[in-house]
Amino acid sequence: MNLVYLTSPKGGVGRTTLTANLAFALQRLGHQVVVLDLDVQNSLRLHMGLSVAEHRGVVAQSQHNSDWREHIIETPSGVGLLPYGQATKAQREGFNTLLRQEPDFLEHRLGSLLHQPGCITLVDLPTGPSSGLDAVKRMDGLGVVVLMADGCSAATMPLVGQDHYLGAEAGKRALYIINQIYIRSRLNRDCAEFFENRLGSALLGRVHRDEAIPEATASLQSIFEYAPTSAVIQDLEDIARSISRMLPDAYGHDSMKFSLR
Ligand SMILES: Nc1ncnc2c1ncn2[C@@H]1O[C@H](COP(=O)(O)OP(=O)(O)OP(=O)(O)O)[C@@H](O)[C@H]1O
Ligand SMILES: [Mg+2]
Repeated sequence: MNLVYLTSPKGGVGRTTLTANLAFALQRLGHQVVVLDLDVQNSLRLHMGLSVAEHRGVVAQSQHNSDWREHIIETPSGVGLLPYGQATKAQREGFNTLLRQEPDFLEHRLGSLLHQPGCITLVDLPTGPSSGLDAVKRMDGLGVVVLMADGCSAATMPLVGQDHYLGAEAGKRALYIINQIYIRSRLNRDCAEFFENRLGSALLGRVHRDEAIPEATASLQSIFEYAPTSAVIQDLEDIARSISRMLPDAYGHDSMKFSLR
């Protein structure tokens, strides 16, 4: 199952930004990539180059017993997007109930997408524990915790270490990305070093801070288009290569490729 989900106990650390940019990096490695937004903020669509007027999404569809492949929106980069979408309070509550009460809900809706050779599904989650996190944890995916090299993220490490947070009870091992590394800041350097020592081989990668990242988002472009010489590109490519190596069926055969339309 080629599923990767990004979580963090602290908000604003860059989960959505990394979900989008890792999707682009994985696509550049030759994978087909679909991103799923399980956060009510519904902001992944903006990172994927869609407009704020784009209201379609999976939550409004969740009561229908459909395969979500039908709802994939092909974005300008070619990465497929399943947005959270605009939803009423009743639809949001109904969606959370399905995530909580139907153990196989997500797996059934994502269906064949998860087992399509060559296709990787990346999931953007809300901050901290959520019904979405519980639902993805039940599947056989790769859990990635995003940390920022600051004192507040360092203070959340014991929370991440708790067994229930990422499914350690099921023998799963979380991997970590330290985002927004800023070498000119002493505190940032010290925090990054603290994480590196603590995480050891669980550290999936490091991503530098670069103003080009928010600028790229504001201009509805990927960092690969907006600032192709940024140091962040190398960071993202290194992480994408590691993810690609870790997933069992991450490369498909051309004949097995499917159209996102
Ligand atoms: N490596 C980076 N360099 C510079 N800015 C970054 C980097 N990563 C993320 N950002 C910026 O940090 C801010 C927060 O990012 P983002 O919205 O992706 O975080 P999040 O963890 O998804 O937040 P939320 O908890 O609101 O869902 C954004 O303005 C984004 O552009
Ligand atoms: Mg987010």
